[in-house]
Amino acid sequence: MTLTEILPTLRSSLPPHLDAGVWPRTTRWSERGDLRAGGVSLAALAAEHGTPTYVVDEADVRERCRAYAAAFGAGDVAYTGKALLSIDVARWVAAEGLGLYAGSAGEVRVAALAGFAMDRVVLYGSAKSTEDLDTAYAAGVGTIVVESLGEIARIAATAPAGQRVLLRVLAGPADCADRRFGLHIADGEAAAAVARIAAQPGLRLAGFDCSVGHQLNRFSLYEQELGRLCSFAAANGIVPERLNLGGGHAVAYRPAELDLALGAFAARMRAVLHLEAGRHGLPAPRLTVSPGRAVVARAGVTVYRVLAVTETRTGGRLVAVDGGMSDCPATALCGSRHSALLIGRAGADLAPAVVVGRHNDADDVVVPDASLPADVHPGDLLAVAGTGAYHHARATNFHLVTRPALLAVADGRSRVLVRRESLDDLLARDLGR
Ligand SMILES: Cc1ncc(COP(=O)(O)O)c(C=O)c1O
Repeated sequence: MTLTEILPTLRSSLPPHLDAGVWPRTTRWSERGDLRAGGVSLAALAAEHGTPTYVVDEADVRERCRAYAAAFGAGDVAYTGKALLSIDVARWVAAEGLGLYAGSAGEVRVAALAGFAMDRVVLYGSAKSTEDLDTAYAAGVGTIVVESLGEIARIAATAPAGQRVLLRVLAGPADCADRRFGLHIADGEAAAAVARIAAQPGLRLAGFDCSVGHQLNRFSLYEQELGRLCSFAAANGIVPERLNLGGGHAVAYRPAELDLALGAFAARMRAVLHLEAGRHGLPAPRLTVSPGRAVVARAGVTVYRVLAVTETRTGGRLVAVDGGMSDCPATALCGSRHSALLIGRAGADLAPAVVVGRHNDADDVVVPDASLPADVHPGDLLAVAGTGAYHHARATNFHLVTRPALLAVADGRSRVLVRRESLDDLLARDLGR
């Protein structure tokens, strides 16, 4: 029997367990049930900045960058900015020595405004606009990823002489026809691209790029991809300078879930690359990675205010908050399962709850299976973990709601990285007024 079973009052006076693998590294309970991240009270942030609000723990992001740098070498890691990007986030990444994968003119501009060494920036994207390319050239982006046959002549005609390119390939049989991002090896498309690039004296093929999947914690798909890339290079007489294995590294959103084991992964990938390169008579290329989610997901927390609590006909409990699928699209889009906690006061014993949003949409669910105090009520604050990646980045104005602010916390201080959108911001674009 546990102490809390002998003394039930003790159970309700203890804050719920805070899983260090799920919440930002600096998160701590403080007095009266408040949660602090980066030494800052989340309830105080909600009072000062309103809700919903994204909070990102700078130390957590920087530590993840350092872990990647330690595992692969900082020069061989580029953060994929689509997961979360602001000028300050780009500055943290640059300061930790990582490069940046930028997928649009906007992301390139942010990198330039952050003072990124542009040689460390890679422009990728399966359908690059003229604006994307022109912005990248003007900023001096170091590398461009070629992702279709059609864009080779276009890039060759417009890029600065000697432009470094990577070729994004779809290597495996599993990369069947519905995979959009890259050139298929199996049907000769990738080989045709190699020949076309070679025929362009202004382009320099530095190697290959790929994306194996998402939320992966097993190594096998990456290992197979390395074998296929080496075999393709050898078959086409190419000695690649580098191979980018993409991202897709798993992060834990719930206490029982597993992250990709980074140190073991890096060691294993290096070993496999040496083996595969040797087997195909190639010198081992540089191995690079471009993680997005794994760098920022766990650094982020979203703070919401509860607007309504209702009982369903089947005895369930719906806790409606002042955000939803407009700021937390991952639950509806990808079935993400976040962890949620009541903050700002001590609560009663935990009971099941569905945290839903404010939008009139059946898919508007923030956490489908939360455990929240039985006495949760309107006005309470909820913190939802693991919202650093693909939340701020994918936020929308669904229902013409305004997008939340993005705040950073570090060393007991908070800072607004991106201010909350106002209704005036929104309506300024509507020329019907
Ligand atoms: C080449 C490459 N690297 C990295 C990523 C980011 O993936 P994640 O955020 O899962 O790490 C992608 C995503 O599609 C990608 O295409």
